[in-house]
Amino acid sequence: MIPRDFIDTLLARVDIVDVIDRRVSLKKAGQNYQACCPFHNEKTPSFTVSPTKQFYHCFGCGAHGTALGFLMEYEHMSFPDAVAALAQDVGLPIPESAQESDRPKPPPALWDALEQAAQFYRQQLKSSPRAIDYLKQRGLTGTIAARYGMGYAPDDWSPLKQVFSDYSADALAASGLVIDNERSRYDRFRDRIMFPIKNIKGQIVGFGGRVLDKGEPKYLNSPETPLFHKGSELYGLFEARAAIKAAGRAIVVEGYMDVVALAQHGVEFSVAALGTATTPIHVRTLLRHTDRLIYAFDGDNAGRKAAWRALENSLEALQDGKEISFLFLPEGEDPDSTIRAHGQAAFLRLLDNDTLPLSAFLVRELASGLKLDTQEGRASLLKQAKPLLEKITAPMLGSLIQRQIAELAHVPANELTQMGVKPTIARRAPPRPTRRPAPSRLRSLARMMLLNPQRVAEVDQAWLDANDPLFEHLADLMTWLRDIGSPSLPSLAEAARGSTLESLVNELMTDLLDKDDSWDWNAEFDGAVRQLHDDWRRRRQQDLAARPLNSLSASERQELVDLARS
Ligand code: CTP
Ligand code: MN
Repeated sequence: MIPRDFIDTLLARVDIVDVIDRRVSLKKAGQNYQACCPFHNEKTPSFTVSPTKQFYHCFGCGAHGTALGFLMEYEHMSFPDAVAALAQDVGLPIPESAQESDRPKPPPALWDALEQAAQFYRQQLKSSPRAIDYLKQRGLTGTIAARYGMGYAPDDWSPLKQVFSDYSADALAASGLVIDNERSRYDRFRDRIMFPIKNIKGQIVGFGGRVLDKGEPKYLNSPETPLFHKGSELYGLFEARAAIKAAGRAIVVEGYMDVVALAQHGVEFSVAALGTATTPIHVRTLLRHTDRLIYAFDGDNAGRKAAWRALENSLEALQDGKEISFLFLPEGEDPDSTIRAHGQAAFLRLLDNDTLPLSAFLVRELASGLKLDTQEGRASLLKQAKPLLEKITAPMLGSLIQRQIAELAHVPANELTQMGVKPTIARRAPPRPTRRPAPSRLRSLARMMLLNPQRVAEVDQAWLDANDPLFEHLADLMTWLRDIGSPSLPSLAEAARGSTLESLVNELMTDLLDKDDSWDWNAEFDGAVRQLHDDWRRRRQQDLAARPLNSLSASERQELVDLARS
């Protein structure tokens, strides 16, 4: 865990204008700064950054947050990585306790070992005519090999002895570069074409190696290490980032060779899952980079199986507004052989015209082989569909697919629920509200509380109007603010991250962007508290007056008299 104090100090040191301006050029507009929003397409700027509130907001798409939130969205960083990046910018050392997170930080020696090995493999490729010939024969040029940092591991038991003076170092085993048996240690990768696998920051986390001839296994991958987790890394994503953004889509293929062959032919927006099924983590990662995902697996049995697994694992990462589809290549073809045989234009045409949307693939597979003209067949359909339908997280797409399945089974859509199929619910945060919520008394009060948590104590929760749309949340917000006593607006926004109050705090922050710096919120707070108290007294008086006099207790009668007098 990163201590909250540290986040507060960090946010106090950085200037959000600076952080954003280095990535998206900002123009001064009144007291704020503006730009065309980096998170959606627009021609007139609605992306606003406030230097005083240290917050950004897009009035077009609703994206908003602090400097940390911006880095996470824009650079696709995790929270700890965004904290580390900002801390480095302002020269703040990260506290010890932040580093002992649930996953222990791998020691720097592992990174170094992998980097040095990669450099060695690259050099070795240059001096191995056999390896160069192999790549040439597969249609790859030096430029592409260099782009992907490809290399060659020489044919020997321990080539890495040439790189590491201490071949017995723990880091070599821990990074997966060597294998220890009872008697000796030797290189994992020998006589193989090497594909370095990079994380999203471009650091090498592992390798894949292919034999040059017919040997077995054809591909050898780094084992799971503290740096390398097959289920979350994607081969080629680091190299493909810009191309994915430019193309507005990403292709997921099965193999390393597919990725580099596509790039060789100018299709640079593909990535591969690493000899494992595509996981929900992979899908979520990719959907942070793009709205359209296309799986292009091999046209063989294994490829079709992989496609179905990918579908199953995509269901829980689906989002309305994003498209996942499948390209089925002819039997015996893979993306590498297809683009080499038919060229870039033909391949792009396949992507444009021959893909099957996930929903259609799902329905087609479920229905295949079933006799849907019998009740038994329809019952099987429903039974097989149920667990899959329930995984879907995109509410709209989920309902539409449910309806289609219901139609095939000849039952009204609402009967699916009665048959035990749970309706699709959004399990992730709902899409950002783009419309501003209606103003209310409590809302303006809540805004002012955010600006000064210390004054929360002046408000009695009993005064809150239960009919106000914000009533339920405000009580929670007040309790939270009283506990937190946090120094600044962005600190509050970060403290709310992941809590039930996150969206409320963000909305209130957005409201505040409009207020200029001369705004006297102290006076406004006084006014709002007075107003709230008066409203409560009026309601209380009406309540008491509406009841028969003889049902009131002595103190209630006195209260009524007092209320009427003032
Ligand atoms: N794979 C693996 N181990 C194997 C075989 C395959 O990890 N023994 C993984 C690799 O990531 C490989 C992918 O599965 O890139 C696809 O395998 P395959 O279709 O057999 O290879 P291709 O990508 O077609 O490779 P090539 O064209 O070089 O034969
Ligand atoms: Mn192949």
